[in-house]
Amino acid sequence: MDNLDIESVNCKIRLSEYTDTGKLCAQRPVDIKEEIPDLETLIDELYKIFSYDHVNVDDVQALMSRYKSDRKHWKKYAKFDRLRYTRNLVDAGNGAFNIMILCWGPGHASPIHDHADSHCFMKLLSGSLEEVRYQWPQNVHSEVKKSLKNKQSGCQRQINDTCCQSDSCQCAEMADICERTVRIGAKCEQDGDQECNISDMVEIGKTSLKLDDVCYINDAQGLHRMQNGHVDEAVSLHLYCPPFDSCQVFDARSGKPTIVPVTFWSKYGTKVDRNIAAKTQIADSQ
Ligand code: SIN
Repeated sequence: MDNLDIESVNCKIRLSEYTDTGKLCAQRPVDIKEEIPDLETLIDELYKIFSYDHVNVDDVQALMSRYKSDRKHWKKYAKFDRLRYTRNLVDAGNGAFNIMILCWGPGHASPIHDHADSHCFMKLLSGSLEEVRYQWPQNVHSEVKKSLKNKQSGCQRQINDTCCQSDSCQCAEMADICERTVRIGAKCEQDGDQECNISDMVEIGKTSLKLDDVCYINDAQGLHRMQNGHVDEAVSLHLYCPPFDSCQVFDARSGKPTIVPVTFWSKYGTKVDRNIAAKTQIADSQ
């Protein structure tokens, strides 16, 4: 999947439903060069681009970069807990995306997790954070990998079919998917339906995020965790699209996956009932 043109990926749809890698984005609704003056304007601009059918990863990243963090814009959402990082919902994005502020005390970290077949954008609003990326453990597969495998077996049948000798639009599109899938498939180890073979988590990269940096990850790129290894608090802005209610977290030593629900510490600036939030936060599974 890392061979794909990530910038043109349509982040309105789940990764595993993605088939139009070869198409250029027909609708590029925003071309904002100026700075975005505040968080509200950033959210308005996000609503605008998410009203289109095709939303480029690149466009979302560019928008998020144009907003420069100012504590007074987001302080009403920044609610900390002594023991773990908190997730604070800022906007539910009409169901197309959700945007939240995460507050990290010194030493707080998220567990190694996937992104439930969605797209994850993250911008650092204050302090500093480290992102550590990992490979998927052997024999635990993302939805996108499973769907690519299905497409691959489908396309082999299609390639052998006489229809694929023609250059009809449908065949050209299928050939394009095949070509990409084969390239991606070549990188995949033997799949099969074996039992989960627990193994160590393999680290594939580490990045330090500085103020206003924006990063992006999806399940095809791997898993990650964020950590605040500093004495100061950190605050980050996260956008997930499509939104998800649960994800997998992975035991750092064994790689064993567990599905956990994800909820919020506060919503729209108001704290959610602590008993409910504490039971369900992915922060609890560290
Ligand atoms: C992260 O580590 O990227 C944040 C996880 C979350 O959304 O709770």
